[in-house]
Amino acid sequence: MLKLSRRPRPKPGYGEVLVQVKACGVNRPDILQRKGLYPPPPGASDIPGLEVAGTICEVGKNVKWRVGDKVCALIAGGGYAEYCLAPAQTCLPIPQGLDFIQAAALPEAFFTVWTNLFERGRLKMGERLLVHGGAGGIGTTAIQLAGALRRAEVYATCGSEAKRSFCEALGARKAINYQQEDFTERLLELTASEGVDVILDIIGGPYLQANLKSLATDGRLVIIAVQGGAKSEIHLPCIFLKRLTVTGSTLRNRRLTDKAAIARKLLKHVWPLLERREVRPIIYTTLPLEQAAEAHRILENYEHIGKIVLVP
Ligand SMILES: NC(=O)c1ccc[n+]([C@@H]2O[C@H](COP(=O)([O-])OP(=O)(O)OC[C@H]3O[C@@H](n4cnc5c(N)ncnc54)[C@H](OP(=O)(O)O)[C@@H]3O)[C@@H](O)[C@H]2O)c1
Repeated sequence: MLKLSRRPRPKPGYGEVLVQVKACGVNRPDILQRKGLYPPPPGASDIPGLEVAGTICEVGKNVKWRVGDKVCALIAGGGYAEYCLAPAQTCLPIPQGLDFIQAAALPEAFFTVWTNLFERGRLKMGERLLVHGGAGGIGTTAIQLAGALRRAEVYATCGSEAKRSFCEALGARKAINYQQEDFTERLLELTASEGVDVILDIIGGPYLQANLKSLATDGRLVIIAVQGGAKSEIHLPCIFLKRLTVTGSTLRNRRLTDKAAIARKLLKHVWPLLERREVRPIIYTTLPLEQAAEAHRILENYEHIGKIVLVP
């Protein structure tokens, strides 16, 4: 269970800042952590919360930020709080025109989508992309970034008609309601049996064979979660017959230097899109920190579209 408690205000160490949290994004791993299935990495706070936005109120040594700077930050834990430590290198300025709530919804989804879609998935200009869970925090980000940065032909899966229309309004050429249709069949129909070049997958085991079938020659499958299960049996020849790549990554345990490199890329390539309103964080609801349990309930029931944000 989640309950509020008092902790001492943390002190920033070398390369860290202390953020007075104005808003904090809620993510699926927070639920796993609450259940004891996803312990924070060594050295990270045991308080949940992987992303915040707020004002820097104290700085450690070797930090370019100043007290008073407004930032959003990717953190390894500790976001569900009034004050939270963040590595200076994974703080980013709040894009002009966005408020703290919108900014708090950026780091986890934008870092993840950047590194998996463009670095691991190597999505190229005009390619076809399938995004599973298109209406989620990751999905809504992937649909928008693939369109804005690669003019990709984006397909998405989701579990309701409301989510299907939302994904299409956001830029998906077609969203497929997986409750009603077989996504592989539909996709092959929509792409003249060619399939897609890249798939961003969060379902894992149960979708593996269908994903491989849905990929075009030289296609890349990027697995970032196993919401449906971690095991699968597949027919291997399609990998070499179609020269497929199966890859994936997880953000939280990456080295700080890797995360800092992603932050620099986002600042250069994605922050201008946010400032020009070509891409936007999708906020489903904002709740007070005391209602963190309600935020988890909504997420667990997949009621949301986009992100849920807590406000201390
Ligand atoms: N590897 C990494 O670095 C990394 C980083 C961040 C997040 N993640 C993981 O990525 C996943 C997505 O994150 P998120 O923030 O987008 O979560 P989210 O907001 O909960 O979105 C997940 C979406 O998947 C949909 N979904 C559920 N079952 C599905 C199925 N069988 N087929 C297609 N869609 C299905 C859900 O709604 P509907 O079923 O109603 O459509 C929901 O919209 C999570 O598991 C998260 O832990 C991984």
